Amino acid sequence: CGIIGCAGCDGETLDTLMHGLSKLEYRGYDSAGVALSNHSLSVERKAGKLDALRDALSNSSLNGNGNGNESVIGDGSGVTTAGDPGNDAHAPVGIGHTRWSTHGPPTDDNAHPHRDCTGRVAVVHNGIIENYQELRDDLSEAGHEFKSDTDTEVVPHLIESALDSGIPPESAVLSAVSKLEGSYAIAAVIAGVDQVFAARNDSPLVLGVGDDEYFLASDVPAFREFTDKVVYLDDGEFAIINDDGWRVTDIDGEPVEKSVSTVEWDPEETGKSGYDHYMLKEIHEQPRALRQCLQSRVDELGGQVTLEELGDINPSSVQFVACGTSYHAALYGAQLLQSVGIPAQAFIASEYATSVPPIGDNLVIGVTQSGETADTLSALREARRRGARTLAVTNVVGSTAARECDDVLYIRAGPEIGVAATKTFASQLVTLSLLTLQLDGEEDNREAIAGLRDLPSNVQAILDDTKAKEIAEEYHDSDAYFFIGRGLHYPVALEGALKFKEISYEHAEGFPAGELKHGPLALVTDNTPVFAVVTGDGEQARKTIGNVKEVEARDAPVIAVTDGVSDVERYADHVLRIPECTPRTAAVLANVQLQLVSYHAAAQLGRPIDKPRNLAKSVTVE
Ligand code: G6P
Repeated sequence: CGIIGCAGCDGETLDTLMHGLSKLEYRGYDSAGVALSNHSLSVERKAGKLDALRDALSNSSLNGNGNGNESVIGDGSGVTTAGDPGNDAHAPVGIGHTRWSTHGPPTDDNAHPHRDCTGRVAVVHNGIIENYQELRDDLSEAGHEFKSDTDTEVVPHLIESALDSGIPPESAVLSAVSKLEGSYAIAAVIAGVDQVFAARNDSPLVLGVGDDEYFLASDVPAFREFTDKVVYLDDGEFAIINDDGWRVTDIDGEPVEKSVSTVEWDPEETGKSGYDHYMLKEIHEQPRALRQCLQSRVDELGGQVTLEELGDINPSSVQFVACGTSYHAALYGAQLLQSVGIPAQAFIASEYATSVPPIGDNLVIGVTQSGETADTLSALREARRRGARTLAVTNVVGSTAARECDDVLYIRAGPEIGVAATKTFASQLVTLSLLTLQLDGEEDNREAIAGLRDLPSNVQAILDDTKAKEIAEEYHDSDAYFFIGRGLHYPVALEGALKFKEISYEHAEGFPAGELKHGPLALVTDNTPVFAVVTGDGEQARKTIGNVKEVEARDAPVIAVTDGVSDVERYADHVLRIPECTPRTAAVLANVQLQLVSYHAAAQLGRPIDKPRNLAKSVTVE
């Protein structure tokens, strides 16, 4: 889910919230809502994508003056304890939410903001309140009526009950938050109170400091258009914004000093810049992302890699934990480390706690683009509990993983909005390559560095001249799509298939090339294209070509993703050519071709490419 709050935006409050939600939609988009509060509270919320809320708002008089469709609590209706009901003059403050369901289906009633019985308190929440049933039972017993199936709804009722007992607004919200167990980023407004209150525990929340306007959000793009000044909140912190400024306290209300950071990327970096989809834009941004990733980290002449932020690190073995696309990068990283003699394993983060082997003096590396994936954070916390040193490989400065791990290595890809990870995967592979080069202790890595240095222009060459679209068009009506690769190309095959299924909704699977004959071959027909990644002409290429012949013999169309060094093209119906290079960089290049195939197949099928159904970019629940 994504949350936003703002104060000091005067007549622009609703527009600011809607703009913020549009930037946060990647975090979930099955329902959305906003609340504006000045002397009264107005709420509008709708199941469906943000456009459904936009439509509802266009027919609504919700404009910050208390004329909203759903809930209008006028002056004096019980607001006395919630602030100064006579203070009609303050500009509205507001909160908004875009939801990815955890408790209760995506309906209007389950959409946030949620309110108390009187409708004077509105709350948006990201995360899971674990003790909500117990709290709900107690509140119901005390006469509170619930209207949704969500865990969130207990929060406005807890605030209401504190206000009713005469506690002032700020303390009432603190008291409600102190009763919650679980993960949450919460923002709340109260009719008659010119503040937005927010609390964070285990779910992301940042505060934006503009000129006389202040923001709270799950992620910086929500308000980047208005300010580049950010305060990263920590777990257990409570924030208050109004049109005069901002404050942070701990859960007891004691002030906490926070520093203001400046974000370095432009607001345009979160726009589509003329591309039809963010995904296509982000695929095309890969040369730049990779340049940024390498910048000042490699010395080509001296053959040295320096990852300054890492300092002195020399693990005897490494475990990776990650999910989705990041897990594929982790598999790649584990193979690279093994190749330089460092024992390494990659774990799916959600399985780590149950299958965790002894940690000893392992380094545990969490690969996570967002730095907020709950499964990955939980695996990293487990590793820390068992005494491991932890390293976050992430794209998001100030993210939870970045702050909780002992060390952090940024992949520097810039913001990624499309739900399907593209440029961040490429940057993860390159960052893990750099990490391997730093750890392997070799004096001279000139050749490997030269390969990495060539990557941005090699990616550009593919982007400038590829047959991906033709191939996607020719095969878009197939029964299923298979992807095979060996060694470092195995994670590429997995990623090729994941991308394809995520955005095209077609059945796609990735296999180690040698495994195909042990079962999946039964699925291969003349209507199941097989994408085979084959580079170089060594032993691995030779064996994969053997596997290509096996599918060719079953009449399956074969698309070879190759540098043209081997004779795989003889057995292929089509070729997606990549420049000749080493296997570690070939993985990045082959993946670019496969990203483009997925993109064009999904476009051909008319899918909502940037927001595939049922998926969210950042999954902050386990
Ligand atoms: C979600 C996204 C995937 C992503 C995974 C891990 O499931 O839909 O595309 O790979 O999370 O995300 P992370 O931010 O940890 O890399």
